[in-house]
Amino acid sequence: MTPFPVRHSDAPRILARCRELVRPALGRAVREMHPWHAEITAYSFGWDGNGGGQGKGVRQALAVLGAEAVGAPAREAVAGAVAVELIHTFSLLHDDIMDGDETRRQRATAWKAYGTGPAVLAGDALFALAVRVLAQAPGSAGPAAVRLLAAALDDLVRGQADDLLFEGRPWTGPDAVRPHEYRLMAERKTGALLGCAAGLGAVLGGAGRSRTDALTAAGRHLGVAFQVVDDMLGIWGDPAVTGKPVHSDLRRGKKTYPVLVALADGGPAAGRLGALLRSGTVPDDGAARRAAGLIEEAGGREAAGAEAARQLERARACLESAALAPEPLAELLALLAYTASRTG
Ligand code: IPE
Ligand code: IPE
Ligand code: MG
Ligand code: MG
Repeated sequence: MTPFPVRHSDAPRILARCRELVRPALGRAVREMHPWHAEITAYSFGWDGNGGGQGKGVRQALAVLGAEAVGAPAREAVAGAVAVELIHTFSLLHDDIMDGDETRRQRATAWKAYGTGPAVLAGDALFALAVRVLAQAPGSAGPAAVRLLAAALDDLVRGQADDLLFEGRPWTGPDAVRPHEYRLMAERKTGALLGCAAGLGAVLGGAGRSRTDALTAAGRHLGVAFQVVDDMLGIWGDPAVTGKPVHSDLRRGKKTYPVLVALADGGPAAGRLGALLRSGTVPDDGAARRAAGLIEEAGGREAAGAEAARQLERARACLESAALAPEPLAELLALLAYTASRTG
């Protein structure tokens, strides 16, 4: 373990520093959009001053810390940080349509506020803008950076495809989704962009292959942990803190990690949970609460926490295997620890 004294309670300060650093360039990029797309984007970021809207900024922080960890100044990472935050926002606009979710970041989702067509289009515009920002990054790393982003985008849409296809798979039996299928889906839909963020910081900071690969791999493991925790918050989280609906995954038949491992437990609670989920009706509030209780009773909550911890341990090993600057390394480790305990 690094001797540098940064604790997980420092994560909000680290995230805030990175958000402030990236904010001017993000604002400049968004101002280049069609005014309609810029308005929907500003709404999604909470820049309209109506409360809510701000994201945590985990991806931009990974880009900034990735550059600092390879000894480069944070400004080298700004184009990468802007690009990953734009891609993240694009993915959320489209994801909320796919998932039918009506709240995010404490407010109505973009498709609820503006309509599905405008939200799809604003997402497309964010995608295009992200690629342009990165291709125009100063220095000679632009092409390598765009390649990294393209690979992450390919993974992200594959992961989202599997997430949707899993909705139609049975809860139990030979065609049920296996934990390793879930892990691959989560690594793609969420891990790819977190890995890309950290890797972009390294590439834009002038790092070679081995440190870029180590940071990318760490981000991918972090992403799986982040997604497992997101799944847990979707069952036991407080919507006032997460800003997102609770039990929406259960209602849609999403194959989230806590449910999959609970069903695999095979005990009486798992049996009752399977019967409840297989009943074929969309669970109402009471049934969703009962399901949440059974998932916990069958060990799904504990097993999901353990899986997140395993993935974070792998992320830590990747980071500590690379020759990284001690202070940014400690800050990256603080972000890992924060991921395990986050409530929003
Ligand atoms: C939400 O990501 C989507 C997932 C990959 C789980 P975040 O939890 O990082 O969302 P914001 O940006 O902080 O709102
Ligand atoms: C996260 O999707 C991955 C992407 C958005 C690409 P989820 O559907 O699991 O995330 P939330 O819970 O809606 O934020
Ligand atoms: Mg969703
Ligand atoms: Mg989704």
